[in-house]
Amino acid sequence: MTGKPIVQIKNIKKNIGKKAIIKDVTFDVFAGEVFGFLGPNGAGKTTTIRMMLGLMSITEGEIFINGYSIKKDFESAIACVGGIVENPEMYKYLSGYHNLLHYSRMYKGIKKERIEEVIKLVGLEKRIHDKVKTYSLGMRQRLGLAQALLHSPSLLVLDEPTNGLDPAGIRELRELLRKLAQEENIAVFVSSHLLSEMELMCDRIGIIQNGQLLNIQKVDEFLAEEKTTVSATFTVEPVSKAKACIGSIIKSKTSAVKNNQIEVEMEWEQIPEVVAKFIQEGIKVYGVQTATKTLEDKFLEATGGSEIA
Ligand SMILES: Nc1ncnc2c1ncn2[C@@H]1O[C@H](COP(=O)(O)OP(=O)(O)O)[C@@H](O)[C@H]1O
Ligand SMILES: [Mg+2]
Repeated sequence: MTGKPIVQIKNIKKNIGKKAIIKDVTFDVFAGEVFGFLGPNGAGKTTTIRMMLGLMSITEGEIFINGYSIKKDFESAIACVGGIVENPEMYKYLSGYHNLLHYSRMYKGIKKERIEEVIKLVGLEKRIHDKVKTYSLGMRQRLGLAQALLHSPSLLVLDEPTNGLDPAGIRELRELLRKLAQEENIAVFVSSHLLSEMELMCDRIGIIQNGQLLNIQKVDEFLAEEKTTVSATFTVEPVSKAKACIGSIIKSKTSAVKNNQIEVEMEWEQIPEVVAKFIQEGIKVYGVQTATKTLEDKFLEATGGSEIA
């Protein structure tokens, strides 16, 4: 991990009425990373985010931002956070610049130079003096980000920021968030119910379902793993002899047999060894097929096969 933990979420729970909405969630988000919070609708993403931003009380547990407790030291904790939960409020008949100017007055000590800086950071230089009503959704999104960045937060929290964006807008946002993490060393926390977006945008992904965190995975480690571990299907005869033969080489949990096919999860590099052994044992090999597991497979495995979107 590149940086220090900016967010520390420790065993948080949220009950609303008698219903447990968040059930003991723990994780850290580090400076310089884009952390994806992935889960189906109703999983508890927005609830967690509302607690992180102090918009909702925490039933049990603690959230620290830059070491400050949201519960006990709210002012100091929240001073380090920039967030967009729903569509940010904008004055449509004012220019982007005047919106930022107006917003900057809510904080102490934001200089004109900082306004210029965030405009550059989000790439709105050319259009910043146009009225917001002429902006595309992607541009409004970037203006919202500029607004959230004005007070130089160490954490940026975005709830489903790609909703409603077209593919080009999603790509721009992705590049911008990566830049903020890498160049500004900001911890970026972003939620989504779409795995395909998270995979491209994030350094790590935490999967939430029914108020529980199921799994946290580094995306690059996953990709490395993807290259080495494959699901291999051997079409062979006789299949029972082949099964015993594989068993003598690989200790794999997942081997399925149907007709004259055996499916095994194994290392890519072991395939020639297995085939050589088959031939040595007089087993006829008609074919070998390989497939890699995608993060989507893993997500479905982790969530028990429920739909992503
Ligand atoms: N104010 C509330 N009162 C009762 N239930 C709520 C409230 N807010 C959210 N919920 C429930 O909590 C669960 C998680 O919601 P939410 O955090 O919005 O999920 P997500 O953002 O992942 O779609 C859902 O089942 C939702 O119906
Ligand atoms: Mg939500």
